[in-house]
Amino acid sequence: PSNGLAQLPPMGWNSWNHFAGRITAADVRGMADAMVATGMRDAGYTYVNIDDTWEGERDAAGHIRPNAKFGDMAALAAYVHARGLKLGLYSSPGAKTCAKFEGSFGHEDDDARTYAAWGVDFLKYDYCGATLLYPVTRENQEALFRRMGHALRNAGRPMVYSLSQSGEFDIWRWGPGTGANLWRTTPDISDTWASMSQRGFRQLELAAWSGPGHWNDPDMLEIGNGGMDTDEYRTQMSLWSMLPAPLLAGNDLRTMDAATRSILLNREVIAVDQDPAGRPARRLQKQGDVEVLARDMADGSVVVGFFNRGDASASVSFAWHRLGSGFAGTATVRDLWAHQSSPAGDAFHGDVPRHGVVLLRLSR
Ligand code: GLA
Repeated sequence: PSNGLAQLPPMGWNSWNHFAGRITAADVRGMADAMVATGMRDAGYTYVNIDDTWEGERDAAGHIRPNAKFGDMAALAAYVHARGLKLGLYSSPGAKTCAKFEGSFGHEDDDARTYAAWGVDFLKYDYCGATLLYPVTRENQEALFRRMGHALRNAGRPMVYSLSQSGEFDIWRWGPGTGANLWRTTPDISDTWASMSQRGFRQLELAAWSGPGHWNDPDMLEIGNGGMDTDEYRTQMSLWSMLPAPLLAGNDLRTMDAATRSILLNREVIAVDQDPAGRPARRLQKQGDVEVLARDMADGSVVVGFFNRGDASASVSFAWHRLGSGFAGTATVRDLWAHQSSPAGDAFHGDVPRHGVVLLRLSR
């Protein structure tokens, strides 16, 4: 039974990739302000998600409380809501979370009601902390994830339900039955080309399991965190949008440079991610190191991505008739990174930078 949420891949920000355990309520307020000031909110980024390390002790009645870094969670939610944004939190089906803070085991219903009372709109629920309590089996994961899914549905407030594990037991096959809207399909991403590209391209094999209300999640964005170059970050933005996957920024939004802004705020690429048809990308072919992906848009246009996974620049040629009829000769092609339109001609001929991408939208 679906909660009706996340008909498009969720967009927002999450604290973990940049802050890990250093996140504070002041940072979260700063991030909400930055989402408005930078135009991210208006570009579609909605969720401000606090990952692990917000949790405090339970009170005498067993209700979860935030720790001293967060203080008043309802006030923080109100601050985020006042800016037209939504608040996300994190917990674990274990007695402890992954970072050894208080988990939700045995308190699922009460925690879900507490989140709802605070005004929480999104929960990331991470099995990592439960591995101490239970052996990691599909049955245990499914039962524990289902328990919180049930609790959230009965909490009286719509909350997107996001599962976190490492892609064990083909979670994409059974994730929907737990009531979840998205599930991680890979181990944690890091801010490197190898980590990002392995996780991202792997998703193409899982495309059939992802769609409106139930998304594969190859982990959060690393764009702007400094470990990759501009071409590599454009690849993450383009690939996640082609799949499509959730777009959860993971950098410090208060100090973004121009290149980072131009990537996270590229509305033409965001429109690919958020295309209302929600159809998955297809892998058309591999030309050497270049993956050619295509995605059918709701308006009848097709987005084609030439992704160069190699360590040197690559020359690519691709005849448009391979996309089907009605493109060769007559189509208009829009370059979604150069922001330029031109007649498509019969084929694409061009260079793709190392670890980079050329992303084109063809309209008949
Ligand atoms: C796991 C998750 C990460 C993050 C941390 C928090 O490693 O996969 O995304 O939530 O836990 O402790």
